[in-house]
Amino acid sequence: MSHQRPLLAANWKLNPVTAEAAAELARGVLGRGERLSTEVDVVLCPPYCWLLGVAEILHDSHVELGAQNCYWERSGAYTGEVSAAMLAGWCQWVIVGHSERRSHFGETDEMVARKLAAALESDLNVIACVGEQADDFDSGRSADTVARQTDVLLGEMELHRLRQLVIAYEPVWAIGSGRSAEPEHAYSTMRAIRQRLRERFDQAATEVRLLYGGSVKAANVAAYVELPNCDGCLIGGASLDALEFSRMLAAVAEVYAGAAGRAAE
Ligand code: PGA
Repeated sequence: MSHQRPLLAANWKLNPVTAEAAAELARGVLGRGERLSTEVDVVLCPPYCWLLGVAEILHDSHVELGAQNCYWERSGAYTGEVSAAMLAGWCQWVIVGHSERRSHFGETDEMVARKLAAALESDLNVIACVGEQADDFDSGRSADTVARQTDVLLGEMELHRLRQLVIAYEPVWAIGSGRSAEPEHAYSTMRAIRQRLRERFDQAATEVRLLYGGSVKAANVAAYVELPNCDGCLIGGASLDALEFSRMLAAVAEVYAGAAGRAAE
């Protein structure tokens, strides 16, 4: 929790399988959560092929739309890819560097940095993901790992792009495992990310929102957004249930309502 508006982003991953189910989920989130979306920024990230249908449903609402990936080249002979420039016509957000892209599709920090740069250049807001593997966690190298990943991501980034950037800290061992990180661990690792941002951008670093992700659900979301350096969450599995997602929204809105006036870190 900080002075920034909180953000809850739903990463639907490779779900749902049909257009009807995707539309139903989007309508369910809107129906249950639209009132709260005036207090909490909400972004739904469906698979590419449902972007148009979900965009039509979200039209005229406060809920925004994001893609889960993009390619850095604008156009050309890159079969199967979708460029950041193309996405900019459809949605406001894109996720880059999710650990599943890194582990299943071989994306390196350098590739993620190129995606980030292309997405920022296309005026998209970007949720850039970092996070340590279980062995780095076990050996106490979480903060070092995410600091290094953050450095590569920031690359040549210009100051005026900072407002478009959100960094999601997602420990790989916590994603989809039901084993969420202890809030103290999230706090100390996210502090390392903030420190890198500060070293590079000084006071302007506070413009970047930091999210926690990894087995977040209605029962534990408040414990993360209460952290002084956490501005929201990136949610996978639990975002596929509109009721559960609306409960998370309500929990985040409550934390922020109760915290009005408290100092930010
Ligand atoms: P999870 O996924 O909430 O299912 O752990 C989070 C993510 O992959 O962004």
